[in-house]
Amino acid sequence: MVDSIPTGPSEAVLTRMSLKPEVTGFFDPETNTISYVVKDPHSSSCAVIDSVMDIDYAAGRISHAAADKLIAHIRERGLTLEWLIETHAHADHLSAAPYIQERLGGKIGIGEHITVVQDVFGKIFNEGTRFQRDGSQFDALFKDGETYSIGTMQARAIATPGHTPACMTHIIGNAAFVGDTLFMPDGGTARADFPGGDARVLYRSIRKVLSLPGEMRLFMCHDYAPGGREIRFETTVAEERASNIHVRDGITEDEFVQMRASRDRTLGMPKLIIPSIQVNIRAGNLPEPDEDGKRFLKVPLNGL
Ligand SMILES: [Fe+2]
Repeated sequence: MVDSIPTGPSEAVLTRMSLKPEVTGFFDPETNTISYVVKDPHSSSCAVIDSVMDIDYAAGRISHAAADKLIAHIRERGLTLEWLIETHAHADHLSAAPYIQERLGGKIGIGEHITVVQDVFGKIFNEGTRFQRDGSQFDALFKDGETYSIGTMQARAIATPGHTPACMTHIIGNAAFVGDTLFMPDGGTARADFPGGDARVLYRSIRKVLSLPGEMRLFMCHDYAPGGREIRFETTVAEERASNIHVRDGITEDEFVQMRASRDRTLGMPKLIIPSIQVNIRAGNLPEPDEDGKRFLKVPLNGL
């Protein structure tokens, strides 16, 4: 299913903790997603991580208020957008990467195993031969350990599969964007039961993230404010290791897998999985229009 499983804490990842990117988080209350603008402290270059396109699914209506906030932030500061990063193909919100790219430029990047996700969901949504499953909708497909630059900063993508096969964590100086590999310490971890997900693989990916330096800042893709607390989306490796309710130090792989499997059995499908996946496997583009120029999303019956 995945051909690059992390080998655990022994697999050292080079980090440069003295580099401190400026990180601004934008919380989307509709989907509990946090989108980020990550700015190089030494130039005007920036990247956007995990943008959100608004959808009123009941009405079949797309809009861009959340993306427009990111665009305004970047324009007001005179920043140059170099990258639009997707930590994975999200199942709970639609990406706005192409909408932002059209206005600000930049390249859209995701993990190379998006091809696995495209293949699995291409079948579920009966996408037919016009839908390419080679990742060509994206501008860049990152391999495990691959580096890229944002201005003067070097960023590194490391494979952290388990929630989905294409999940990656992006390490930029002293900040790591973990996608749905981890939640805040009191939120635990994301589900591993989507097609292509695997709790055991997720555990190993998490240990890989938690082998980063203790003071590494970790930025979450989601927060559900457990217990009704304020929304929080930044923590550290040390905090996660000390107190994550699912994967703090001392919790074994088997304990985690058992917990994750029994918890996942209780979860319903995310309410936007059907529109999200169809758009996100196309890098955030809507399905092709029909001969009348109208675009449609499908609902596979008993397919998920
Ligand atoms: Fe996710």
